[in-house]
Amino acid sequence: MRILAIETSCDETGVAIVEDGRRIRANVVASQSAHQATGGIVPEVAAREHLRALDPVMQQALRDSGMELGDVDAIAATVGPGLIGALLVGASYGRGLALAAGLPFVGVNHLEGHVYANWLYEREDEGEGADGPTEPRRPPEPELPAIVLVVSGAHSDLVLMEGHRRFRRLGRTIDDAAGEAFDKAARLLGLGFPGGPEIERSARDGDPTSYPLPKAWLPDRYDFSFSGLKTAVLRLVRSLEAKGPVPIADVAASFQKAICDALAEKVARAAGEYAVRTVMLGGGVAANGPLRAEIQRRTSVPLRVPPPRLCTDNGAMIGAAAFFSLRHRTGEIPSLVRSSMPLG
Ligand code: KG4
Ligand code: ZN
Repeated sequence: MRILAIETSCDETGVAIVEDGRRIRANVVASQSAHQATGGIVPEVAAREHLRALDPVMQQALRDSGMELGDVDAIAATVGPGLIGALLVGASYGRGLALAAGLPFVGVNHLEGHVYANWLYEREDEGEGADGPTEPRRPPEPELPAIVLVVSGAHSDLVLMEGHRRFRRLGRTIDDAAGEAFDKAARLLGLGFPGGPEIERSARDGDPTSYPLPKAWLPDRYDFSFSGLKTAVLRLVRSLEAKGPVPIADVAASFQKAICDALAEKVARAAGEYAVRTVMLGGGVAANGPLRAEIQRRTSVPLRVPPPRLCTDNGAMIGAAAFFSLRHRTGEIPSLVRSSMPLG
């Protein structure tokens, strides 16, 4: 089954074609640069940019896949959570396209998309047997149950995935999302937007033990809190500024370590408590190398993380989630957009 999937919940316009929920045939993402000037996303600007980008991005995805709309079996689009105007652009476009082409429309939860990004692959491995090449092999699916950490610009959720589309949220952020914390710290340090990749790059030249920062702790629960850390970085930067040039790389490295430690500690604890078979990451912050390394170091079960370009928002993850939501259908598939929408 081939699904053409659209993602427009935030500031990335994505259109992909995904086969059987796993194989990417095309995945085109246009990132909106309009937000760099403001250092954050203005919702109306995001919606307008999606409107401008969507048609050319879809044409490109069809060209990349060598397919036509007639080769597709369903149309999917993100219907929440996200910026309501931005969601409306993609979902209305998708519904219109489905109607015109006589295809079913599948509304997808963006967070499920981040989870199902772990099922995607681009190429099948060429099998090599004693008698020469064998049937191509698909990379194995993640084994369930799993602990999933979804960390993006808007969410920090620690989730127990008991089976396909069976999610139990164990914890979440009680204030800022992890990505939001990266973005705010980057702004304080005069680095660009989005802040996560900028902090990661800058931190490579820094010493993570230079400044001890609070670890966003909340003991005995699986919830996170990052606003105290943000205030601590603000205070640190102000006091360093008073003394001379701020050692940006050291502050970035210390901040990154505080966030990664807090996230990794709770992931490892949950993986032990629920005796899961896999730990999975998803969302833009999962692209962070030191976060992956820290989680890997603390857990003994296999860790699955999508490649960085599938961690950040894209259409392919929506195509994967759409396929599994059709296959493991538990009720009405949503088609109306909503700004907030829990997993599962
Ligand atoms: O999943 P995503 O593309 O969009 C949302 O659904 O929010 O996540 C975007 C967030 C931004 O806050 C960005 O700073 C963060 O993910 N991010 C990173 C990295 N790449 C993106 N954070 C830390 N390290 C990275 N390498
Ligand atoms: Zn996202």
